Amino acid sequence: MANVKGVQVLLALAAITAIAHGATTTHLQFYMHDTVTPSTGTPATALRVVRGPTPSPGNSINRFGDMYAIDDPLTDAPDDDAASRAVVGRAHGFYLMASREADQLLLSVNMVFTAGKHNGSSVAVHGRDAILDEVRELPVLGGTGEFRGAAGYVLIRTHSFNASNNNAVLKVDMYLSV
Ligand SMILES: *[C@@H]1O[C@H](CO)[C@@H](O)[C@H](O)[C@H]1NC(C)=O
Ligand SMILES: *[C@@H]1O[C@H](CO)[C@@H](O)[C@H](O)[C@H]1NC(C)=O
Repeated sequence: MANVKGVQVLLALAAITAIAHGATTTHLQFYMHDTVTPSTGTPATALRVVRGPTPSPGNSINRFGDMYAIDDPLTDAPDDDAASRAVVGRAHGFYLMASREADQLLLSVNMVFTAGKHNGSSVAVHGRDAILDEVRELPVLGGTGEFRGAAGYVLIRTHSFNASNNNAVLKVDMYLSV
């Protein structure tokens, strides 16, 4: 009995080691188009569903407590090559202005792939997004389909931001061990 238990413990440790070392590392790169203010031909993909009660110091747009529901398209290339870019998925979820003082969001989204070789799979991302930082690291909570059991992280960079209408294009680098 003791030996069987010992073997089970060793197998469990081996599995944990394999996960920690990452059996396969996948790098995905895509762009997330967050449209707060719609224009002709471009619907709003971020809707403010909660408005914080008090203006935040030094920030004319966002208030602590603001929450946006999002359904942002994910594309394989940024906005500026509109002709050549393809939609590869959607970011479904929300972001919440989670700091009283600074532009720091809680971003919680399911990255759902709807085309290409990852079509049908999804990855859950949840973490702190300090939107003025050049690079933000957020944890990956897990995935479905091809990415079932995935662990990893994303690095988010602001590709473009229009301060007059709050629309942004974010570059997302996703690193997954599956
Ligand atoms: C993605 O997968 C769905 C479900 O299998 C399928 O209906 C759809 O045509 C696929 N889309 C692309 C662009 O391959
Ligand atoms: C930024 O937003 C303003 C207001 O909606 C718009 O007039 C302007 O064209 C936008 N700038 C860019 C570079 O898209």
